[in-house]
Order: sequence, then structure tokens, then C-alpha cells
Amino acid sequence: MKRRTFLQNTSLAATSLLLQSPLNAMGLGDTPKKRLAMVGTGHRGSGFWGKSLMQNFGDVAEFVGLCDINPGRVETAKTIIGANCPVFTDFEQMMLQTKPEVVIVTTVDAYHNIYIIKAMEMGADVITEKPLTTDEIKCQAIRDAEKKTGRKVIVAFNYRHGPHMIKVKELLTQERVGKITSVDFHWYLNVYHGADYFRRWHAIKAKSNSLWVHKATHHFDLVNWWLDSDPVEVTAFGKLEHYGKNNSFRDVKCRGCKYKDQCKFAFDITKDERLMKIYVNNEHHDGYLRDGCVWREEIDIFDKMSAQIIYANGVTVNYSLTTYSPYEGWRIAFNGMNGRLETWEDIPYQQSSQVDQAARHANEMVQTKDIIPDESQQIMVMDNFSKKYDMITVPKYKGGHGGGDSGLHEKIFRNPNNENPYNIMAGTRDGAMSCLIGIAARKSIEEKRTIKLSELTDIVPAAKRPV
Ligand SMILES: NC(=O)c1ccc[n+]([C@@H]2O[C@H](COP(=O)([O-])OP(=O)(O)OC[C@H]3O[C@@H](n4cnc5c(N)ncnc54)[C@H](O)[C@@H]3O)[C@@H](O)[C@H]2O)c1
Repeated sequence: MKRRTFLQNTSLAATSLLLQSPLNAMGLGDTPKKRLAMVGTGHRGSGFWGKSLMQNFGDVAEFVGLCDINPGRVETAKTIIGANCPVFTDFEQMMLQTKPEVVIVTTVDAYHNIYIIKAMEMGADVITEKPLTTDEIKCQAIRDAEKKTGRKVIVAFNYRHGPHMIKVKELLTQERVGKITSVDFHWYLNVYHGADYFRRWHAIKAKSNSLWVHKATHHFDLVNWWLDSDPVEVTAFGKLEHYGKNNSFRDVKCRGCKYKDQCKFAFDITKDERLMKIYVNNEHHDGYLRDGCVWREEIDIFDKMSAQIIYANGVTVNYSLTTYSPYEGWRIAFNGMNGRLETWEDIPYQQSSQVDQAARHANEMVQTKDIIPDESQQIMVMDNFSKKYDMITVPKYKGGHGGGDSGLHEKIFRNPNNENPYNIMAGTRDGAMSCLIGIAARKSIEEKRTIKLSELTDIVPAAKRPV
């Protein structure tokens, strides 16, 4: 059979199997590698979805096209990835010319929907970075397009794949502390990582729909998955009190800023070779400043956020996100009918060694599978009326979002037994349910009322989530 005919015949079957089947075990023998294209070749695209993917899975997948609105950045990404494929600034042209089987979407959040939908309409399946999208209209449109085209979308919820998160899921599935009735979940971004969101597009609601969607989608997805139930309503509070106009001085960007000696948030991007290559060397094309001033007047997102979320199975969740903490970490507690399960990461006074907070974010983004010797994540479980508690330990990973990044790649690209334990792979319904909580939270703040998720799309919240 000619290669072209073979590809045409197999691409339908092969792409529809993507969600269930490993790319390297499709029974294609020595047939071609999976044909990938990417749109949005910035930090996440060129690194995790580009360079790491090719380093670890170059035997089963290859890039046939790369696309970005910035012609310089897409060329830079090609070099970083080590790809041997054409680059584009026009997505449709890339699709027509390269006919990828799978499109990886890693653009600015507010544009995910354009490419997810267009890719499906042009015959490809999609892997999209979180959040699925940024508002309820786009969310519904993605769901409709998926139904209409019969294509598949994977939403890349990497956090689920970290061993710590999986252990929590396992304990909750076993009902270790009985039926869960309420959850306290608090996430602290430090003054380095938290501030970074205020330097660029994340700080503008029109691009990210605020950290309620951009960042908290990770956290809401974890809770939805852990509880295995859908959110029904959200009541939220939030303000912008620290960054943006809340300072007496400001400039446009850190480079050349006259206040850099007095500004604690001054960031010298020139010391970071990778960021210089990706952003600064290409900013003449589109004006994208990676070291924008955190005190810019245009910043309109919230920097402190809290919400109460009611689930279809009756669980109430209290959630908060702060963006200017001295340390980066999180803690969660599940109150069950028979006891309480608590866990946390990176709380300095609960750790054996001190963490360099400035370097912490950089370490998290490093794609390593290494376990840190002598360190572990801990999960405390205590039964009601007991005098003792159990401390369950899970190995601690150095980077890549607590081992979640590599776990996600392995699951998509090398999963010999086609396993999907705990329904760990997410599609558009899960993607929607997590970003809709954030969308509802913003609406709740702006409209000063409780928002029901059923107001937003045609998804009907279920006490137990459909598979
Ligand atoms: N899962 C995770 O842990 C994780 C971590 C980082 C980023 N992300 C996600 O990855 C995506 C990219 O984030 P990033 O940090 O790489 O951002 P980035 O700003 O470095 O890259 C975004 C890229 O999109 C391009 N772009 C902007 N508008 C576009 C458009 N209309 N069409 C095509 N390209 C466009 C930009 O030129 C840029 O190259 C975001 O959706 C983000 O939420 C996920």
C-alpha cells in the first residue's frame, strides 16, 4: 500500500484511538510516527510540549508543523525543539500543508478555543494546555464542535499525574475517612512566581479571564477529580489590592526602569538566556514584554481570591488563592464522616530543610523525573475518636510539577496496557467543569451573587461524574 493511502486509511482509526491507545502501540509496526503540529510556541510549547516531548518520545511522534503569530518566536522554538519541519504564522495554511493527526494547543489562554475548534474541523485530534478556555460561550462552542466533528480533545491536566495527587485520589476512592462532606483548600503563590503572572498577559482579564481561570483551573480540576462529583454553584470574593495600580511608582518594564533599585519586584530578564531567546529577542515583532512592570495601571485581575463551591454530591469546598505569599505551597483538608485527611506541599515550617523561594519556580518548571532522596510528601489521616494518626508518605519529585508533567506525557505517548486508572485522562467535560468554576467565580464577584454552573453551558452537573 502506498504511504499516502496507508496514512489516509489509518489516520481516522489511529486518531480516534488516541485517547485510549498509546501512540507507540497502535499495531502500526514500523509505520510513520504520530504527526504532531503545535500552535503557540512560547515557554510551555517549546519546552514541555516541544523539547521534552522530542527528547523522550521522538521514537513515536514527530513535529510536522509549528505555528505562532510571532514569526521570530516560532523560529526560535524550532531550534529549541530540534524539529525538522516548516514553521507558520497562519494556522490554516499549516493544517492544509502539513495535515497533522494531532494539534497541540499552547497559545495564550483566550485563544485556545479558536485553534481547538479549527483543528477538529480540519480533521485533527487535539491536546490542549489548560485551561480548556476562558469563558462559557467558548466552552460551549468547543463542546459543540467536538460533538459535530467526532474528534477528540485531551485537556492536559498535568497536576493529576503527580504521585502525591494520585495517592490522595486512591485514599478518597477507598473512602479512607468515610464519605467526604467538606474540603478546605488553600494555595499560596510566592512573591516570585505569583508576581510573574502580573508581568504579562495573565494580568489582563481579556487574555486569561484572571487567575480564577488561568491558575485555579488546575486546583478546581483536582478537586472535581478527587471528589468525583460536579460543581453546582459558586460564591466568590476577590480584589486587586497589591499589584497593578496599588503602588506609588511604575514603569513599563523592568529593563531600564528608573525605580529598579527600590523595587523589590525588579526582575532582570537579561540574566536568563532562555527567556532572552524566546521573548526579548522576538519582542520587536509583537511588543510582548516578558518583564512587564507588575505595577502597570492596565492590570485588571484579582490578586486575592476566595470561593465557596457547592458540589452535586453535597460537598462544600472552601478555596483560596493568594499571589504575594513569602513562600509557595498549598494545603488541603478533607473532612469525612469517619475522620479527616490532610495534606500539603512546601510549607516551610513543616519541612526538614529550607527552600530558596526565588529558585523554587524555576525548579518546578525543570523537566526532571528525579526523586529527591530522603524527602517525601505526607498525607495525614486521622479517624474520629482515635488518639493516633497515620502519616502516609509518597516520594517527592524534583521538578515538572511534582512528577505530573512526565506522568502525563507517559500516559499519552507510552501507555502499553492502555490503562486509565481513576479516569486520570481528562477530556472537554472535565476541562469545562474546572474552568467554569473560575468563570463562575469572576461572575460572582462582578455580579455580587451566587452563580449556578447550569446557567453557563448545557452541561448538567452530576452527583457522580459520568465517565
Ligand atoms: N500545565 C501547566 O502547568 C502549564 C504551565 C505553563 C503554561 N501552561 C499553559 O500553556 C499555554 C502557554 O503558556 P506559556 O507560558 O507558554 O505562554 P507564552 O506567552 O510563553 O506563550 C504563548 C504563545 O502563544 C502565542 N500566541 C499569542 N496569541 C496567539 C494567537 N492568537 N495565535 C497563535 N499564537 C498566539 C504567543 O506569541 C506565544 O508564543 C497557556 O495556555 C498556559 O496556560 C500550562
